[in-house]
Amino acid sequence: MLSLRDLKLSFDGSQVLDDINLDVKKGEVVKLIGPSGTGKTSLIRCINLLERPDSGFISLGGLDYDYSRISKKEALNLRRKTAMVFQQYNLFKNKTAIENVMDAQMVVQKKSRKEAYEKSMQ
Ligand SMILES: Nc1ncnc2c1ncn2[C@@H]1O[C@H](COP(=O)(O)OP(=O)(O)O)[C@@H](O)[C@H]1O
Ligand SMILES: [Mg+2]
Repeated sequence: MLSLRDLKLSFDGSQVLDDINLDVKKGEVVKLIGPSGTGKTSLIRCINLLERPDSGFISLGGLDYDYSRISKKEALNLRRKTAMVFQQYNLFKNKTAIENVMDAQMVVQKKSRKEAYEKSMQ
């Protein structure tokens, strides 16, 4: 379902991720564990391009992308196929719990209100 190949990321010349390879099969649950500051969050942020890797490849849902030359359209595709819950997450305070769950489905995935509601209730 997800493959990363030779992913590299540096901040200001300091190499944080060096040739990371990872394969995740559909249905698999994978934990990244390690001491603070070793790059777990950065790796996850690279998958949906919250960080831009210096180089490397990702295959997601049958499509292949080259991080060193990824188009805006490809970046959008990657983001549509991924979801991230932040360590410090924020909910929209002016919305109910169910509306918070529905929101991204309508805005990002362009689902109808009805479809998003039914999925959220599930
Ligand atoms: N935006 C950033 N700019 C510069 N350095 C960063 C940035 N984000 C993370 N780092 C550095 O990258 C390294 C990995 O951080 P991080 O991915 O947050 O590790 P972890 O999630 O494993 O604790 C740390 O040395 C951190 O200081
Ligand atoms: Mg972290």
